[in-house]
Amino acid sequence: MIPRLRPDLTWRELAAALRPPSGDDVAAFEAAFAREMGQRQGIAFPYGRTGLIMLLHALGLQDAEVICPAYTCVVVAHAIVRSGNRPVFVDCRQGDFNMDLEAAERLITPRTRALVATSLFGFPVDLDRLDALRSKHPHVRIIQDCAHSFACEWNGRPVQREGDAAMFGLNVSKLMTSVFGGMVTTDDEALAQRLREIRRQRLVNPGLRKSLRRLLYLAAVYPAFHPKLYGVVLALQEARLLNRFTAYYDESLIDMPADYLEAMSRVEARVGLVQTARYRDIVAKRRSRQLQWRRLLSGDGSLSLPPDVAGATYSHFVALAADRAATVASWRARGVQLGELIEYSIPTMPAYRPYQHGDFPVSAHYARHTVNFPLGFDPEEIV
Ligand SMILES: Cc1ncc(COP(=O)(O)O)c(C=O)c1O
Repeated sequence: MIPRLRPDLTWRELAAALRPPSGDDVAAFEAAFAREMGQRQGIAFPYGRTGLIMLLHALGLQDAEVICPAYTCVVVAHAIVRSGNRPVFVDCRQGDFNMDLEAAERLITPRTRALVATSLFGFPVDLDRLDALRSKHPHVRIIQDCAHSFACEWNGRPVQREGDAAMFGLNVSKLMTSVFGGMVTTDDEALAQRLREIRRQRLVNPGLRKSLRRLLYLAAVYPAFHPKLYGVVLALQEARLLNRFTAYYDESLIDMPADYLEAMSRVEARVGLVQTARYRDIVAKRRSRQLQWRRLLSGDGSLSLPPDVAGATYSHFVALAADRAATVASWRARGVQLGELIEYSIPTMPAYRPYQHGDFPVSAHYARHTVNFPLGFDPEEIV
C-alpha cells in the first residue's frame, strides 16, 4: 500500500540522530534554518503551536482578537486560545484554499491585534492583497503560517519574510522534518530576543528520555511508511491502536500535547539540520511530482485539480473529489491511500461554537471534498 505521505528521509538523518550530542545542536539548526528561509533569526520550539503561543506573548497580545483562517489546522486556533486571545475565523476565498483577505479586512476592529496569514497546502498567500491590508491597518501584526509552505513565493516574493514573524511545523508530515518540532523566524532582532527570553522562562529543558523517545520514533518512521509494511500500519491505525501517534485533535477539546512545553531535543535539531541542507532538493522533487500527478489525473472527470501556481511548494497535492468516499475507495483498491486533509472547518467544531460568528460555506465545501495524492513517491511508478 502506498501511504498518503512519506517523509523524505535518508540514512544521513538517522546517522545524525545517532551521533553523540553537542551543546550547540539546537542553535546550529536555528541558524541554518533561518539562513535557508532568508531571515535573520530562527527560534526552535517543540511544536509549531508552542512557537505560536510564545510568539503571541512576545508580541504583547492578551485578550486580543487574532484573525485566522476557518480552514486550517485546528491546532493554530488552539494556540491562539491557549495564549489568552480570541480567534476570529475567516472563510476561504472562492476557488482558493487560502483565507479571503478582503473578508478578513472587514472583520478588523480596534481589538484586532494580529492576523495569521496561512499559505495552505503550499499555495502562497496573495501578498498584493496582504500589502493593501497592512498599509490600511498598521496596528495589526502579521504572522505568516508557513507550516505547509516553507519558502513559497508570491510573484517571486518569499512569503515567510512578509510580516512580523513566520511559523513552521516540523513533524514528519511536513515538507521537511526534525521528527517533531517547530520554528519561528523573524528579521526583528528585538522580537527574537523577547521570544528567546520567554522560551527560557516557559519551557523546560528536554531530558535524555525525550531524546530517546524521539530517536525511537524516528527509527520507527523508516519502516512504517514503507509500501510493503504500510498495509499493516494502516490496519493498526484503523483499529485505533496508533491513536497516540496519529490522532491530533478531539472536536470538543482545545488542548495541547502533554510535552508542548518541553524544549526541542538535540536529536531533533540534528535531524532538522540535515533536512535543512536537503530542503531545496526535497521541494524540487515535490514540484516535479505534482506536475506528474496533474498529467496523470487531467482526464479524470470526478476530480477538479488545483491551479498550478508558480512559487507554490506543495506540502500536499490536493484535488476536489465530487464523491470523496468513492474516490478514496477506488484508489485504495489500486493500492494507493489518499489523504482527506483538511477534513473540517474549525468554527463548526463543538469546541469552537463560542467563537463561531457567521458562515463558512467555502471551508465547509473543502472539508467534505478534498483528497490529497501522495507526493512521497514517484507517481509514474505507482499508477
Ligand atoms: C497549517 C498549519 N499550521 C500550524 C501547524 C502547527 O504545527 P505543529 O503541529 O508543529 O504544532 C500545523 C500542523 O500540522 C499546520 O498544518
